[in-house]
Amino acid sequence: MSNVRSVQTDKVNFFGNTSPRELASRYGTPLYVYNENVLRQRCRDLTGLSDLPGFHVNYSAKANTNPALLRIVREEGCHADAMSPGELYMNKLAGFTADNLLYVCNNVSADEMRNAVENGLLVSVDSLSQLDLYGTVNPGGKVMIRINPGIGAGHHVKVITAGKETKFGIDPTSLDEVRALLAKHKLTLAGVNQHIGSLFMEPDNYLNAIDFLLHFIQSDLSDLFAGLEIIDFGGGLGIPYHKYDEQPRLDMESLGRQLHAKLTQWVGETGYKGKFFIEPGRYVVAECGVLLGTVHATKFNGPNRYVGTDLGFNVLVRPAMYDSFHDIEIYRENGQPDDELVEQSVVGNICESGDILAKKRQLPLIKEGDVLGVLDAGAYGFVMSSSYNQRPRAAEVLITSDGTPKLIRRRETVEDLAKFFVEE
Ligand code: LLP
Repeated sequence: MSNVRSVQTDKVNFFGNTSPRELASRYGTPLYVYNENVLRQRCRDLTGLSDLPGFHVNYSAKANTNPALLRIVREEGCHADAMSPGELYMNKLAGFTADNLLYVCNNVSADEMRNAVENGLLVSVDSLSQLDLYGTVNPGGKVMIRINPGIGAGHHVKVITAGKETKFGIDPTSLDEVRALLAKHKLTLAGVNQHIGSLFMEPDNYLNAIDFLLHFIQSDLSDLFAGLEIIDFGGGLGIPYHKYDEQPRLDMESLGRQLHAKLTQWVGETGYKGKFFIEPGRYVVAECGVLLGTVHATKFNGPNRYVGTDLGFNVLVRPAMYDSFHDIEIYRENGQPDDELVEQSVVGNICESGDILAKKRQLPLIKEGDVLGVLDAGAYGFVMSSSYNQRPRAAEVLITSDGTPKLIRRRETVEDLAKFFVEE
């Protein structure tokens, strides 16, 4: 083994029968690499939370829409959500059909709603104005509403999606207006959903939000209860990004036990015959992805050591956007494991000073020519990448269950970028 730091990927045999350096030289970098076994395991953690009939994992496809991954998620028995025509299209490419897809959108056009309806999807709207618009698109149809439970949670203010400071959801005090709009367009309320925010590591907030929604349905929606087919508690389940600091995992055993007990009791009390969804994105795909990059330069500016790579915020925007932490591994030709840590900042090749992947991080000394592995990059990684500075987007490779690498998205080229420019 010729790696300086690779304990975490070694633990799960992430790179199968190849190696990160082999992948980097074969496919180039930056390169998103996914591991099928890890992905399947994460799906099974979730589908195993409850065996209540009607309990479903509705994968939130915004976290990663590569159809090769979507297909695996579908094979594992998950449903999926879509929030744009593009996500709906990718889900269908992967074999999802209307009966296992849900459209959870906000601020969309009538055309977009029509597209979802024509594809047979149930649509969740998240404002009175969108409910009114939906009624004009699909009078007499079924609809879901997204409630803002007033409790928000998340790893950064930008990913908290409930409470007064967010754009999402219908205020639970506006139910009279909801009823009036349902009556106006002869709509049936077929479901209720919520999503409080992204990345919790303790189950409590999520379980409290579930209590809120179940109680709300029982007490405030009793007149509409008979039509309900789906109750969707949203996503937000976190993963340990600080793997080298031994950060504990979310306790799925405890979450499952409490969730299952709550739902079972509620079904007993109410006679509810519909489905329950949880809607995780990150938990499904984050840990199955490692982003590979190459170190092209190292230098000091005064006391600060910089490691210059091809991993700019065009490739992975989470650190620049949310100050997110991703652990880093170091793969070197004839390298030796090294536990001596040096403060250094890992930066990209974009012309902005905020182009920092890891700021003042204690890591083994990184050298030119090293290949770096950014852990837990499978969620909100590639899907949030851009071609800023006219850098074509990365390729994606899947390590299949038998350990073999397979290209699942070719690297973009500058010709790809140029083909959208038109001359009148
Ligand atoms: N359902 C709805 C309606 C959502 O808006 C989201 C995420 C999810 C489910 C899935 O949430 P998850 O389980 O992945 O936390 N780009 C940010 C995360 C933004 C999440 C947006 N909504 C990040 O990189 O941390």
